Amino acid sequence: MLVRLLYASRAATPLTSTVVDSILAQSRDHNPKFGITGILCYSDDLFLQVLEGGRDEVCELFNAIVRDDRHTNVRILSFEEIPERRFGGWTMGHVNMATVNPSLLLKYTERPQLNPFNCSGQASMALLLELIATASVIGRCA
Ligand SMILES: Cc1cc2nc3c(=O)[nH]c(=O)nc-3n(C[C@H](O)[C@H](O)[C@H](O)COP(=O)(O)O)c2cc1C
Repeated sequence: MLVRLLYASRAATPLTSTVVDSILAQSRDHNPKFGITGILCYSDDLFLQVLEGGRDEVCELFNAIVRDDRHTNVRILSFEEIPERRFGGWTMGHVNMATVNPSLLLKYTERPQLNPFNCSGQASMALLLELIATASVIGRCA
């Protein structure tokens, strides 16, 4: 059974490329072995991540992610059983929100900054789908 989990969190310290690179390296190593796909969006101080895969695999990974001290205030925005994946092309695609066109962000948010804490899970999911549609996501599987 497939599920999709969307969560947001705050970076424990201002994000550096070293931190993001190490998270992505862990994801690339772990996720394919467990059939996990998804996207990680980040800005200076926030993460927004969608995870898809089997229910056990997604829940186990999420438990590990919650314990990770590189971030805090982890908030589940949505969790659903799904008939098919929407992010199946990415072992963990990534988007630095600083590089995204502000008008794309404004379509779904009150201000042209990523702030999943003050918008609905539905709006955050719509933003992720728009990022895919506009080819803003890096790291598609070959
Ligand atoms: C925002 C964020 C997203 C993460 N995403 C993933 C991921 O998709 N896959 C993964 O294996 N680890 C991810 N991690 C790293 C895990 O939290 C954890 O460090 C890793 O699974 C190793 O856990 P372990 O030491 O318990 O084996 C993420 C960490 C953070 C802070």
